[in-house]
This record gives sequence, C-alpha cells and structure tokens, in this order.
Amino acid sequence: MSRIHNFSAGPGVLPEVVLKQAQQDLWDVSESGIGVCEHSHRGKVFDAIHQSAKARIKRLLRVDDATHEVLFLQGGARSQFYMLPMNLLRGGRATYLDTGHWAHLALQDAKRYGTVDVGWSSKPSRYDHVPAQGEWGAIPEGTAYFHYTSNNTIFGTEMSYVPDVGDVPLICDMSSNFLSRPVDGSKFAMIYAGAQKNIGPSGVTVVAVRRDLLGRMETELPAMLRYAKQVEKDSMLNTPCTFGIYAIDQVARWLEEDVGGLEVMDRRNEAQASRLYAEIDRSGFWRSKVRTDSRSRMNVIFTTDDPDRDAAFLKGASERQMSGLKGHRELGGLRASLYNAQTDAAVDALIEWMREFERTQG
Ligand SMILES: Cc1ncc(COP(=O)(O)O)c(C=O)c1O
Repeated sequence: MSRIHNFSAGPGVLPEVVLKQAQQDLWDVSESGIGVCEHSHRGKVFDAIHQSAKARIKRLLRVDDATHEVLFLQGGARSQFYMLPMNLLRGGRATYLDTGHWAHLALQDAKRYGTVDVGWSSKPSRYDHVPAQGEWGAIPEGTAYFHYTSNNTIFGTEMSYVPDVGDVPLICDMSSNFLSRPVDGSKFAMIYAGAQKNIGPSGVTVVAVRRDLLGRMETELPAMLRYAKQVEKDSMLNTPCTFGIYAIDQVARWLEEDVGGLEVMDRRNEAQASRLYAEIDRSGFWRSKVRTDSRSRMNVIFTTDDPDRDAAFLKGASERQMSGLKGHRELGGLRASLYNAQTDAAVDALIEWMREFERTQG
C-alpha cells in the first residue's frame, strides 16, 4: 500500500528520506553488517550515532557544549513533569503558566514538591489563548524556575515568543513545536521535548539542560531520576532508546542538510499554517475556537460546529487518503497537525477537500 497524508498529533509524520534510510539501517547500519537496533549501546557504531545526534541538536538549539548538555531520556515528556521539580523545586517555589492540558498536568505534578505559583491561566476560557509577553506579572522573589509550554497540542495555541523572565531559570516543554523555528537555546535553563512530533519516534525525550543548574539539584534521588547522574553517564545509566536516538540523528540531519536549517523550516511551517488558516477564515463555514493571536502553526484546530458534519468530513477525508484529522477527545472537532515533516501536498489535499466539502455540504 502506498503512503497516505498523515495529520496525526503524535506520533506524527516523519520525513520520507529518514524512513527510507531507516529501512536500510535496520538491516545494516554504517556498513557494520548489523542493524541499528541490534548494536550494543556501548559499542563504537552506536556511540558515533549518539554523539552525532547530540552535536546536531546542540547546533540546532544554538547551545554551547560548555553551558548545556543534551540528554536522551525515557518515560516520555510526561516524566519530565515530575523529574524536573524533584530535582529543582525541592520545597521551594516555581512559576508555571497554565496554558493547556499538558501545562496543567505539569504544574499538578510540581505541587508535590513545593509551591506552585500559577502565573497565568486560560483555563476559564477553555485554554483558547496564550499570554502576551509579561502578562503573568511579577515573578516572586526566590523562584526556582519558570515553566511554560511553547505549544499546546490539544488546544491549538502557541507562544511564538520566548518569555522574558530576567535571571529566573527558564524551562520549556517544547514537545509539539520543537525545532519548528529558530531558537536561542542559550536563553533556557532547560528545554525538553518528547521526540514523537517533530524529531523522531516515541520512546525518547530530548532534554537540553544548563550545566550550572546541576549543582543546585537534589542529590538524594535514585540515579535514574537525577539529571546530574544522567549527564555524568551520558544518558547511559541504563540501555537508552537506541533506535529513537538514531532516528533523532537522521531527522536532525534532514533538518540541517536537506531542509537547510531552522530559518527555512520556519518559513515552510509558516506558509503551510497560513494557507490552512486562510481557508478556515475564508467564508465563515469553518470555525476556530482559538483566539487569532494565539494560533498554533503545528496543531490547527477547526470545526463546522456540528459533530455530524465533522464526522462526515472525517469520513470523506479518509476516503481521500487523509488520516489523523479527528480532534482530541477533550475538545472534539477537527485537528490538522502540521509538524516539520508535513508535506505541501498533504496541505493541498486537505484544503481541496475542505473546499469541496463546503460546496457540497455548506
Ligand atoms: C506539549 C506536550 N507535553 C507533553 C506531552 C506528553 O508527552 P509524552 O507522551 O512523550 O509523555 C505531550 C503529548 O502529546 C504534549 O503534547
């Protein structure tokens, strides 16, 4: 069967060249006579892949080896919701922005380990927008860190700027817009992202952590839960997700060499999202519950406001070789995810079907 257009919110679409390379490398990677999933994580072949993936992520994030280290951890981005406060909150206080489902879960986990100041929340308006720069007000004295979610996958909102929080360590869950635009990683104390949206398969989480934070962290935790130990052992305290790390290296290679870097990626993402939002806004047939100034470029939420019509749209989409357009169960409606590897052809096909649907069902 040939491939169809995949708009899934995650795991999401991956670059075709990466999938083709992976097919080959599952059989024999780096002319070693052994497939990538069969190599010891401590052997030379895998070590080269691991170091390459780390170096590429650091280059893309524009972070220096001297200041930041990149880890590849397991347990999903969600495990960072507790690992972070366990290490860094330690009975103190932290500010969290409550901008969506995952942001809310992160702050709930943090409450187990200290005081959480909810700097700003759009929960009362069903997470339909994100704050403007500084809308969270003054950050309390002695705040251990400031945590936010740069893209809210379920509610389709995105913070397109980096919060200015002065000297307070800035920490971001970038899971659903990781490396979708240029980023100055040096502004961040920590960035984390589950790989399965923009950079690889599920099962591995990228963490970029600033080295100077490690000395401030809790030392009485089990080794697997300590960032400092993970850094010391180069993410090898146990067997890491070797295939995931391999795929991250391949996707990062694609970003750097085939796409031509994050500036180009940014323009591509902007163009795809703008075309889709223009179609949503064109006639009033489609509705979007997201405030215009907060719209996500990665997860585009829309609906006809009629569940039966939305279902008919999905059925027709499936007949036209498109999948993954069903909205999250918490919100209903429709959602098109336009992660980095999304193709222009997929966006063309979606817009074409939206127009036809409006003409025939409108
Ligand atoms: C913004 C965000 N954070 C965290 C998570 C949880 O990620 P994981 O499934 O890797 O634990 C998700 C999953 O969709 C997400 O979208």
